[in-house]
Amino acid sequence: MKNFTHLSEHAPEELLALADAALALKKAPPRDRPLEGRSLAFCFMNPSLRTQTSCEAAAASLGAHPITLNLGSGGAWQMEHRDGAVMDGAAAEHLKEAVPVLSRYCAALGLRSFPSGASWDEDKAEPYLSAFRKYSTVPVINLESASGHPGQALADLMTIRERMNPKGRNFLLTWAPHRKALPMAVPNSAAEIAAAAGMNVTIARPEGYDLPPETMARVRALCAAGGSTLRVTDRVPEAYDGAHAVYAKSWGALARYGQPPPADPVFRARWMPTADKMRRAAEDALFLHCLPVRRGLEVADDVLDGPWSAVIDEAENRLHAAKAVLLALLAPGKLIVQK
Ligand code: CP
Repeated sequence: MKNFTHLSEHAPEELLALADAALALKKAPPRDRPLEGRSLAFCFMNPSLRTQTSCEAAAASLGAHPITLNLGSGGAWQMEHRDGAVMDGAAAEHLKEAVPVLSRYCAALGLRSFPSGASWDEDKAEPYLSAFRKYSTVPVINLESASGHPGQALADLMTIRERMNPKGRNFLLTWAPHRKALPMAVPNSAAEIAAAAGMNVTIARPEGYDLPPETMARVRALCAAGGSTLRVTDRVPEAYDGAHAVYAKSWGALARYGQPPPADPVFRARWMPTADKMRRAAEDALFLHCLPVRRGLEVADDVLDGPWSAVIDEAENRLHAAKAVLLALLAPGKLIVQK
């Protein structure tokens, strides 16, 4: 593996093997510090609890030295990515210098760079992540970009795999209410990895909240290749019927890009996952959310505190997924790959 930035660059078999390797690492962490003496830079342009902590903890557990850089927020310099820019604005350094410099110090570079929310056409080009890939001489890890959150998706797949063989099971991705227009990275990656795992994918969303056409084309192709189904609906709570895994997430509408969803209480109540809705799902269904979650707005307390909730296991799995990704990139011989 050269980089870990987009799920679409990996075959479904590779993603499943990586999830299984991460589960093996969860059971038996390596004792021999396979990344001893190496430094890793995790660059954040946006806030994080799980991603930053799990990456640092994963690096430390493998013997590496993690360095977290908060770009442009009182930590490291604010970065410019545009070729030919006259740099008389806030950015003091260009990625053309910064990324090669970091590559001289570190064995891998991670980047979190959220979309601006101004234009999807500009955001989907992922200018900062693209610049990291272009200028880095070491592997690059996407810690959440405009279009994807692959490390989260790997942890999501692990959490499902811990409880069931996903192939042929029903995966519901349901839109959830929020006060902001959130990025589409997590739902894109969740739908993609469920399809890659051979699950029947249902996406329940209000009219106008379709995932980007590029994502839908990939999910459709993965479902077709794996012999599973893809359904898009605005019928809730019916969409919950028979679901084995329910994944809730809010995201912004492409047609009203960057604008918050309606605050109408009836609309919010219709779309918020509740215990009543979860009771329509399959027996032993699990409930997933990448966190952070706004209780009582995005998801009801009775779901997060109920028997379905796997959100803490899912967050723990970020740690083991990060270890698997680091080993796959830097010491693949140390990964236990199931045959
Ligand atoms: N799920 C996730 O990426 O969490 P953070 O934003 O806290 O890193």
